[in-house]
Amino acid sequence: MNVWKITGGHRLCGDVRVQGSKNAVLPIMAASILAGCETEIINCPQLSDVEAAMEILRHLGCRAEREGDIVNIDSHGMTRTDIPRDLMHEMRSSVIFLGAILARTHEAQLTYPGGCELGARPIDMHLEALRALGAQIEEDGGKLECRDSGLVGTRIALPFPSVGATENAMLAACGAAGQTTIVNAAKEPEIVDLQCFLRSLGASVAGAGTSIVTISGFAPRQIVGHRVMSDRIVSATMLCCAACAGGALTLHGVVPDDFETVSAALEEMGCTIERRSMSVKIVCDRPLRAARAITTRPYPGFPTDAQPLLMAACLKAAGTSEFMENIFENRFRHVDGMRRMGADIAVSGRTASVTGVRELAGAEVSATDLRGGAALVAAALGAQGVTQIADSGHILRGYEDLDRLLNSLGADVRFEGEEPLSLENAM
Ligand code: EPZ
Repeated sequence: MNVWKITGGHRLCGDVRVQGSKNAVLPIMAASILAGCETEIINCPQLSDVEAAMEILRHLGCRAEREGDIVNIDSHGMTRTDIPRDLMHEMRSSVIFLGAILARTHEAQLTYPGGCELGARPIDMHLEALRALGAQIEEDGGKLECRDSGLVGTRIALPFPSVGATENAMLAACGAAGQTTIVNAAKEPEIVDLQCFLRSLGASVAGAGTSIVTISGFAPRQIVGHRVMSDRIVSATMLCCAACAGGALTLHGVVPDDFETVSAALEEMGCTIERRSMSVKIVCDRPLRAARAITTRPYPGFPTDAQPLLMAACLKAAGTSEFMENIFENRFRHVDGMRRMGADIAVSGRTASVTGVRELAGAEVSATDLRGGAALVAAALGAQGVTQIADSGHILRGYEDLDRLLNSLGADVRFEGEEPLSLENAM
């Protein structure tokens, strides 16, 4: 049953321990291939994308098992070098396995991951980086045949600070002779977490979090375990849910700096934000005013993944909020669902102007992608009446038990056909 029914009008109150980061754990799971031994990934969120990554590892001949929030991977028994089409298409970020498979086996066969709801999602920068290291990559009808006769460290200048291309280059460089320098590297916190994991495997990596990352050699050693960073986009999502519904939430186990651009935007809109070393508290107890212009950029700029979520928080804010989406060409697909709820949004190319309305009304909408679906959930929390969100499977790719979490904070989120919540919850 993938239709969520959300009855709006319930304030959110309570404490949230934010899940491990999807976008940190996926490249770390790919990196486990380099180890050739057992690795333990702690604080690993239960997500369909993580399941897909475990399927890929098992297909390659590795062992991948979950015990609660720990995923144990043993890549010693790796026997294959190919990722089949169905697994590639199940999760487009599977391309992140390419660099690690090459570094370990010097050959790899996979298909183009293909576009997704956000746009074409090309991988040219990934392939150019691997070719710079000495990989021969033949592209034939959507298939990629990759091999190398020994990767050699080099200087890789990325034309754009692509997160995935930076990660693929880092992983491949671990199998290269000599030093690799990645210039114009992505600076996202997930890159820093990957560096931390690679160091624990015995790789010499430095510079993650800056635009220049160097990798010089890799001497595999046994690893005890790595605790994945908390998910900064889930943190941003929960803040925006509070802004939509009203109430007070405290996020625990987080790094406030990781999502400061979102916190600051909500503060300017009239929310109260308290930052401590490992927690952020938000209080939303008054009508909000429009956000200042939001322009998405690579980290440390405003994250594209939080753009739909902040837009949800702006739907009833007094005034007009301007959004400029610079990262993906098709990232306003949540606008249609928001308009069906009564939002006033004008879209022109990569810009969207949101003029706050007094009320939103529950409607029948569909999730179009992961963060767009989460944004419709946030908007529904602040709408009058019931919103039905179809295709909620998109949301499960990146959010662990979001329905249960929101209900624990006072919301009313049900799967269609589910019995109404107990009376006290419905009060
Ligand atoms: C990562 O995607 C994240 N996914 C995305 O999160 C996130 O939105 C994105 O980084 C930007 O922060 C994971 O980490 C699994 P990019 P990625 O390469 O690596 C273009 C979510 O909701 N580009 O930084 O694919 C690309 O088309 C997801 O959790 C090329 O042109 O992002 C895009 O316009 C969505 N050629 C821009 O660069 C390439 O070879 C940024 O892409 C690679 C990218």
